[in-house]
Amino acid sequence: MKIWAHRGCSQSFPENTMTAFSKAVEIPGLTGIELDIQMTKDGEIVVIHDERVDRTTDGIGYVKDFTYRQLRQLIIDAGEEKKEKIPSIQEVLDFLRDKMAQGMLLNIELKNSIIPYEGMEDKILDLIGQRCLLKEVIFSSFYVRSLERIRKRESAVSVGVLDTNVSDCFYKKNGAFDGEDVSVALHPFWKRMDMSRNELKGQTVRAWFSGHLYPELPTGKKLDLGQLECYGITDVFLNEPEVYLS
Ligand code: G3P
Ligand code: CA
Repeated sequence: MKIWAHRGCSQSFPENTMTAFSKAVEIPGLTGIELDIQMTKDGEIVVIHDERVDRTTDGIGYVKDFTYRQLRQLIIDAGEEKKEKIPSIQEVLDFLRDKMAQGMLLNIELKNSIIPYEGMEDKILDLIGQRCLLKEVIFSSFYVRSLERIRKRESAVSVGVLDTNVSDCFYKKNGAFDGEDVSVALHPFWKRMDMSRNELKGQTVRAWFSGHLYPELPTGKKLDLGQLECYGITDVFLNEPEVYLS
């Protein structure tokens, strides 16, 4: 089972922050880091999960209504009087670059199924291409049209089709891409494996979880990764990858 840090080490540190990413790169055997991108009013790509800043910062409003400069004034409370800012994707890429050159992967989820940010695909491809990291990145989205745009411009990049049921990921993949194409992965919710392992043979299946890991299970219990493999899952996005790999 391949293990990813979901929004960085997001159980113990604020999600999608430089601290959460810097803790993740220290984990031995980690396959990669997952993060989410949105776009500011002036077209800067920033790393934040929600369309709005309210849940994770001291601000109120939509990311799309802030300039990058305004957004950087917002504070993320990291506890013990530590403060974080919403990172730009450029800052994160520059930080992860060396680690990625050594084989660590990065899954960039384009959060464009609610707000279809115009030009997001070209911008992110430019930033990754300029750093020669196209082979180390997997682009995912719930909005499959966006993944089609990415592959139209860069036919060799890896993408992940997000949905809830694995069957919906599978049929979306077959509709938009070649069903046999190993560079197009399925990214379903872990509890919605409604196809057999046999039907999923040859597919990369990266499962995501909702909320934090421990609230999913009775306290103190870890996920049974062997059981998840039996369902055909090949990778998991975990908020606490350090618990499984340290
Ligand atoms: O990419 C997998 C997972 O991150 C999707 O859900 O809401 O955590 O972005 P969410
Ligand atoms: Ca995500």
